[in-house]
Amino acid sequence: MSNQTLFNHDSHRAKEQPLTGKISVEAPYLIVEQSLALDGQLFLSGAKNAVLVIMTSLILSRGISILRNVPASDDVFQMIKLLTELGACITFDERDNILEVDTRKLDGYRVSPDIMKKMRASVLVMGPLLARFGKVEIAFPGGDVIGERPVDYHLKNFEKMGVTVEQHGDLLTAYVNHLQSRNLLLEYPSVGATENLLMLAVLTPGTTKIINAALEPEVFDLIESLRSMGARISIEVPATLVIEGVDQLLPADHTVMFDRMEAGPLLLAGAITGGYVHLPQAPAHTMGLFLIKLQEMGHTILIGKNGIGVKIRATKNPRAVSIKTAPYPGYPTDLQAPLMAALAMAQGVSKVQETVYENRLMHARELVKMGAQIEIAYDTATIRGVEELYGAHVIASDIRASCCLALAGLVAKGQTTISGVYHWKRGYDGLENKLRQLGASIVLRE
Ligand code: UD1
Repeated sequence: MSNQTLFNHDSHRAKEQPLTGKISVEAPYLIVEQSLALDGQLFLSGAKNAVLVIMTSLILSRGISILRNVPASDDVFQMIKLLTELGACITFDERDNILEVDTRKLDGYRVSPDIMKKMRASVLVMGPLLARFGKVEIAFPGGDVIGERPVDYHLKNFEKMGVTVEQHGDLLTAYVNHLQSRNLLLEYPSVGATENLLMLAVLTPGTTKIINAALEPEVFDLIESLRSMGARISIEVPATLVIEGVDQLLPADHTVMFDRMEAGPLLLAGAITGGYVHLPQAPAHTMGLFLIKLQEMGHTILIGKNGIGVKIRATKNPRAVSIKTAPYPGYPTDLQAPLMAALAMAQGVSKVQETVYENRLMHARELVKMGAQIEIAYDTATIRGVEELYGAHVIASDIRASCCLALAGLVAKGQTTISGVYHWKRGYDGLENKLRQLGASIVLRE
């Protein structure tokens, strides 16, 4: 297969290079020009937040796993690099989005700091490595600049399960003393902590409960994949995962869910340009509050059979709406920045309150450079809709901020250039190409 790339321990060592010719490490800027009403139907990619954790969960089995619908985004390539460094042999067919991961010779339990620093999701190897080898050594994870993002909920609860955690400067070492199933009560439904603890619990003898667990659809995709590997997981109302430990897990054969965090921006691209967009695969049943907000703005939303597929027919006169981000099924923080681009030109005053991260309103400052009227007080942005935005040079501070600025660029007069675009490539698989298919004027300059 022409687009298939093989990754193994040796190939990683031999070339400290970008993993394919297609994806380069540097991604300088996006150029966006004011675009006419976008129009068309598009297919989505697999969900970044599901695939990354499902990839780490493959460490739990010894064998050859197959993942389908895997997006060719930079975070996925980074995770391939991480697993390869641990000794997995990986083949990625980028054309058909199929990832084959052979974990039979995986024998490493140390992740190098340069990989950890590039992607926060690397912390999700902790649970699987503790389950498989009883030890793990990592550096504190990196990622975006959207707040401090500690991992204390992960560590505290690992300790409750009998893991000793030691910190030496930036390095974290954890090893199992006497693994025990426990009732773990999360003080906040952290997505990553839920996933990490779940992955250790599936191979821990006895019954572990994760109480106040995160219920994001991507967590359920992980659960589905783990169940297909033989894990025994059930759910108790209102938000408790009950895990009966098993002796071993089989390799996975799993199709990753479609990305609601890609569907959202594509619908907003239709909304913001006064166009029409149809996403037949969009997991509308997981996008409730976001779609309700689009309707409140005055857009027409049609949902497909069984909650799959969304069409948006945009109003020319969108109204202001207010949101407050919260864990699922609340309004998702990852769709906060993209929505703000649309609110910048909606009639009236919108309020956007960010409660999940302490520092995730940095895109507002960039929107102001484009003519938006936004004031920030503590965790809330107050947005007064303006008639026009203007092209400017702006900087993306995280994945979703890059998306917000690209959306604003579609309606801003003139040309918008966006730097910090390596975030864009981390989170999306060719989103600029998808927007171009709908008629947008957007180019990624590498
Ligand atoms: C995941 C998603 C991310 C999304 C977020 C919330 C992935 C790869 N990323 O991130 O896109 O925005 O869920 O839906 O799936 N926190 C602590 N201590 C901890 C853990 C978290 O204080 O031990 C705080 C974080 O700093 C943050 C909040 O809790 O402010 C939410 O974090 P969490 O739900 O863990 O998000 P992630 O799993 O990192």
